[in-house]
Amino acid sequence: MIETDFVPLPYQQEVNEAKITWKSPSNIALVKYWGKKAHQIPANPSISFTLSACATTTSVTFEKLQTPSKGSRFDFFFEGRPKEDFKPKIDQFFERTKTYLPFLGSYHLKISSSNSFPHSSGIASSASGMSALALCLVDFERFLNPEMTEAHFIKKASFLARLGSGSACRSIEGALVQWGAHAGIAESSDLYGIRYEGEVAAIFNNYHDTILLVDKGQKQVSSTVGHGLMHGHPFSEQRFAQAHDTVSSLQSILASGDLKAFIQLVESEALTLHAMMMTSLPYFVLMKPNTLQIINKIWAFRERSDTHLCFTLDAGANVHVLYPENEKTLVYPFIQEELLPFCEKRQHICDRVGFGAKKVTATPYN
Ligand code: PMV
Repeated sequence: MIETDFVPLPYQQEVNEAKITWKSPSNIALVKYWGKKAHQIPANPSISFTLSACATTTSVTFEKLQTPSKGSRFDFFFEGRPKEDFKPKIDQFFERTKTYLPFLGSYHLKISSSNSFPHSSGIASSASGMSALALCLVDFERFLNPEMTEAHFIKKASFLARLGSGSACRSIEGALVQWGAHAGIAESSDLYGIRYEGEVAAIFNNYHDTILLVDKGQKQVSSTVGHGLMHGHPFSEQRFAQAHDTVSSLQSILASGDLKAFIQLVESEALTLHAMMMTSLPYFVLMKPNTLQIINKIWAFRERSDTHLCFTLDAGANVHVLYPENEKTLVYPFIQEELLPFCEKRQHICDRVGFGAKKVTATPYN
């Protein structure tokens, strides 16, 4: 599919008012997306586990305007309160998506969002937030064009979410989502994420992700700046090529269930992401001393316990500890005893692989 496939046909129905609510999860990349081209096109393919506990619930109320407006008109509430500082990001999202959602100029939107995880936890809410908003918007478009197929609905939601925040396009479905054109994955696209349909060994069902909140402060580098640093980066071309190979390797690992190989791939991807930031100009160290303490503890425990926990990182200091369901009675007590002392106030989130976004309600009023 190409971009213009997401420009809708003339609307069939009229709707004056509607309220739509979706709950959408976060996701954690195994092969990382870092670096992008114009229009939110990824510089390399990525694959993520969709999460379950970390989610955003967003309700959008649509009210038809008497006279259509040029720009988008909306109010935004976060956890029940008006939140002006989120508005520029949403404005930018509407600007990027208006060609694909021409109804936007004819409605006033009231957007209300809340997160299941603590605010300012350092956990990125852009993936869950932008995917929940995108789902509400396409679901509204489904009232205007009732013939939209389910497959198109899912693709368009992912396509739009990507325009809000790249990684958000991997939050629509589960349990594994792949985004970015890759020679070994039929249907893969730079425009949207797709559910990973390759063979996946049972050991990856119900995989756990215990998220350790090492640093709840403001992000040192925004994603936008971070992706930008890959332009002219001395190792970017090698990194982008490597990610294609890593996706291929992950395909075999997912099929075989080889956890040793999985650990090596996932940890190497996390460290490569951080290595890219350490070797850009300007350079950044996004790990904190406690991030390294945790990594060393994980390695020591894995060695002595013969378990298969591993870590991954996003562009920050928090650590995601991944492990299979059948090892949780060994791994979780270790996390409590040895890793939580390195977290701010022992804060952590027990998450696991999930199956994607869920509609809460959708009601048109005419
Ligand atoms: O979606 P963005 O633009 O915030 O980028 C996020 C990139 C990483 O989280 C660091 C990696 C990934 O693939 O999710």
